[in-house]
Amino acid sequence: MEQSIEETLDLAERAKRVFTPNYRQAPVLFVRGEGVFLYDNQDKRYLDFAGGIAVSSLGHNHPKLVSAIADQAGKVMQTSNLFLNEPALELAERLTQMSFADRVFFCNSGTEANEAAIKLARRYMKTVRKENRYKIVCAQNGFHGRTLGSLSATGQEKYRADFEPLLPGFVYVPYNDANAVEEAIDDETCAVMMEPIQGEGGLIVPDDDYLKKLRAICDAKHVLLILDEVQTGVGRTGTFFAYEQFDVTPDIVTIAKGLAGGVPIGAMLCTREVSEGFTPGSHGSTFGGNPLACRAACTVLDVIKEENLLQNVRETGEQLQHHLQGLTKMRGVAGVRGRGLLQGLVVTPQINRAQVRIEALLRGLTITQAGEDTLRLLPPLIVTPGQIDWGVAILRSSIIAAMSRFVGSN
Ligand SMILES: Cc1ncc(COP(=O)(O)O)c(C=O)c1O
Repeated sequence: MEQSIEETLDLAERAKRVFTPNYRQAPVLFVRGEGVFLYDNQDKRYLDFAGGIAVSSLGHNHPKLVSAIADQAGKVMQTSNLFLNEPALELAERLTQMSFADRVFFCNSGTEANEAAIKLARRYMKTVRKENRYKIVCAQNGFHGRTLGSLSATGQEKYRADFEPLLPGFVYVPYNDANAVEEAIDDETCAVMMEPIQGEGGLIVPDDDYLKKLRAICDAKHVLLILDEVQTGVGRTGTFFAYEQFDVTPDIVTIAKGLAGGVPIGAMLCTREVSEGFTPGSHGSTFGGNPLACRAACTVLDVIKEENLLQNVRETGEQLQHHLQGLTKMRGVAGVRGRGLLQGLVVTPQINRAQVRIEALLRGLTITQAGEDTLRLLPPLIVTPGQIDWGVAILRSSIIAAMSRFVGSN
């Protein structure tokens, strides 16, 4: 944000001329990154607590990831699913060893992983169980993606408005209310689909026993439990999958975002039994499981282990939460929600969140928002305690600056 006004306006003008108008982008041009830092075209440094929206798990320019990607690019990047490739095989083997799952389907994003989960749940019921079950019980305030299937599962009117009619068969119940799920299931229900912690909805952490209760209900009613770990997965909450902390075994889990550290990837993991709902030709993806993305993901798994990043997430996450708690003494700050390095500061309408984000950028910090009232912090999993201290200090002064501007403008 050290550009001249002319340069900034020029960027915004260029963007307006060529992009569809579905984003509100800050006029900052990041040109490189190093660890937890991003640098703009004026070489100004920013602490990246937006983390590419929970994607930059290893931060930027991690030497091991960069060299693995370069090496793989020099070998082969794409072969299609007409053939086997070693990185995809290795990644699937490792993901199954690390989880409840026996089978993996690769794609390129979170929404695609959820599309696969929805399609598999329906087809499994139809072709394996021979039952006419197609309905899926989801949560109000949930978020599963922007493509029409995942959007149909998304229980938030603001994302769905004006795209109707969406897919039939989706039912939305209040989050963290197991009885509501039980009541919503009928003879045509194939699955319950939930985030273990609601991300886009505002970092809503359910009661400790919520997912366990859902598991018991799904078992009793013979429906599948699908957990969307697109945001919570890959170590973000302190365990590789968030479900591990809730002591449940799902039937299907979706992951994406941080899995390949910035290279687009998505994955749907499931049990062998459920996987039989797919047969050759029933589902697919041209890029899914390509050697480049899968090699990057294998490297992310290596680094998470080698650098003991799950432990780092637990420690720095606790520290971040503690510091954010300290901010609740400020006027307009209402609370803290989250787990690990998925943390949100809840603010009242007294604090203009867009203004806080601008003030943070001016001070060299990127952050995001979630839900109606939350500022969301998603630092890379490699963040250090010193960087957490620093980020929260910048956030604090950004909130003060935003408040004084808000008051000043009245
Ligand atoms: C829980 C959850 N599911 C799905 C998605 C969609 O992922 P993508 O944007 O990669 O399609 C997101 C994205 O924020 C998410 O948080």
